Amino acid sequence: MGKIKRRINGIRKLINYWNYLYYVKNKPIVSDYEYDQAIKELILLENRRPDLIIPESPTQKINVNIKNFHNSINHISPMLSFNSIYKYNDLINFDNKIRNMFKINRIVYCCEPKIDGVAVSILYKNGKLKYAVTRGNGYIGENVTNNILNISSIPSSIENSLTNIPLLLEIRGEVFLIRNNKSNLFNERNSVAGALRKSNLNISDKKLLGFYCYSANIVSKELFFDCHYNLLQHLKLYKIPINKYISCFTNTKDIIEFYNDMYKKKPLLNFNTDGIVIKINSFAMQKKLGVTNKVHKWAIAYKFPSHEKITTVKNIVYQVGRTGVITPVAKLNTINIAGANITSVSLHNFNEIKKLNVMINDTVIVSRIGDVIPKITKVLLYKRNSNAIKIDIPNKCPICSSITKYNFNKTKLICTGKLNCSAQFTELVKHFVSKDAINIPGLGNKLISKLINNNIISNLVDIFYLQEIDLIKINGINHKLAKKIIYEIKQSKKNINLSNFIYSLGINGVGVVTSILLSKFYKNINSLIISDIKILMQIKGIGFKIAKNIYDFFQDKNNLIIVKTLISKKVGLKIF
Ligand code: IVH
Repeated sequence: MGKIKRRINGIRKLINYWNYLYYVKNKPIVSDYEYDQAIKELILLENRRPDLIIPESPTQKINVNIKNFHNSINHISPMLSFNSIYKYNDLINFDNKIRNMFKINRIVYCCEPKIDGVAVSILYKNGKLKYAVTRGNGYIGENVTNNILNISSIPSSIENSLTNIPLLLEIRGEVFLIRNNKSNLFNERNSVAGALRKSNLNISDKKLLGFYCYSANIVSKELFFDCHYNLLQHLKLYKIPINKYISCFTNTKDIIEFYNDMYKKKPLLNFNTDGIVIKINSFAMQKKLGVTNKVHKWAIAYKFPSHEKITTVKNIVYQVGRTGVITPVAKLNTINIAGANITSVSLHNFNEIKKLNVMINDTVIVSRIGDVIPKITKVLLYKRNSNAIKIDIPNKCPICSSITKYNFNKTKLICTGKLNCSAQFTELVKHFVSKDAINIPGLGNKLISKLINNNIISNLVDIFYLQEIDLIKINGINHKLAKKIIYEIKQSKKNINLSNFIYSLGINGVGVVTSILLSKFYKNINSLIISDIKILMQIKGIGFKIAKNIYDFFQDKNNLIIVKTLISKKVGLKIF
């Protein structure tokens, strides 16, 4: 079998499986984004080999087996879907296609939020709710009448609201999880589907579920509507819930404004939405545009930017922190998520690598929700091939070659090189000169690295012996700047809080708060130096672990020499 053919078969199998989980089990295992990307890849491959396109391909039809339903019902007409777009240009193309086809100036688009939940069809016969059924495979769905009747916003009968009741009314819409401002569930669909399947919904489930109707079929002699918007407005008279943001527009500029507006509102809405749906408003035009086996051609979903992207891991590098912790970092082929270019992500520790099962050259999903730090959320194992390289746990520090060891609970790998490791020393200097410590703003990170790499400083004391001629040797530092930095260093010595000084030493576990506690207890640095674990533990907020770190720190000869020199007359730090 050719390579393309094998790939096509592989992706089809995978998508069919995802479809089964999504449509039948209501338990998707992949995000919409990953699904859309796989469909896109399949379409590309099929375009290259049109001879391999078959009616059963998931690009043509949703092919799922619905044998698993307890109680199934045939849909009156198939419940089809629509295509998705992600870019403004795709919207222009859609609009152009419609305009070319109809050759009229005024085209009305009805725009709605795309609600993220579970699609259901509800049938009213003579005004009474007869049954409710999930979408299933689009042709046959699962009977969920009992639980739909429990959703308070769905009327069980529409007979008393108006005199003009259609003989048959089928409404379609989305059941969703009502969000309050606290919760933000990622597994909306699973939760909704789970709730709809329960034999008996409890009170809290009932309060959690909402419904918005987005289309309807009416069988009635008297009622006739020529467009989607008017039909929805009429349904409001029956107290059927219609989303309040649904609006009509006649050009792409206004549609984009609606899209941007909904995207901005998204965090404040009580339903989850992943985009907008753009529908041709006129029923006559909808009919003309028609359907494929899978989608209505008169509607399109314009999805919000995904907080996920697929990329590949180019390499793994290791960062060594101030306390020697080695953090693996994945270098990525650059991706842009919601405006930010992402070239690398932290893998935190080696357990995370194991948990994710990530290798070099793997294809991965990177996720960045809001302003949260991006991370790899999934490895696309089906894309792994023979160039995947296992990530080793280094037994030597990648910077200084000292032996590595695990911390007590095996969560962190640590370089034992201490300050002989240039990475650890560099981080210590950055910490030492930072605002809450000695505060020398002129010594920026790049300059610190250069000073250390050029052997100009090799311990903390050296900082105070720096001279202008040392600094102007460094690329990018002129006389004026060198003067300013030397001045800052001189000033920094004059007035240092004891707590800032304690903090500046970078003792493991001793942050700003602990430093303040210690400074209040000891009053001067010499008392802290000679203290023992027992006394340290008398301080409220200091436990054995930190007490031991402090004690060990001052037992270390090198540390002691540095601290004593810093406070000696020779260097002359004035600590208060
Ligand atoms: S209209 C084209 N309108 O998105 C007519 N669907 O994959 C079909 N959805 O199955 C549906 N919000 O469950 C329509 N405002 C909306 C919608 C919406 C969410 C769901 C629906 C459909 C799926 C598309």
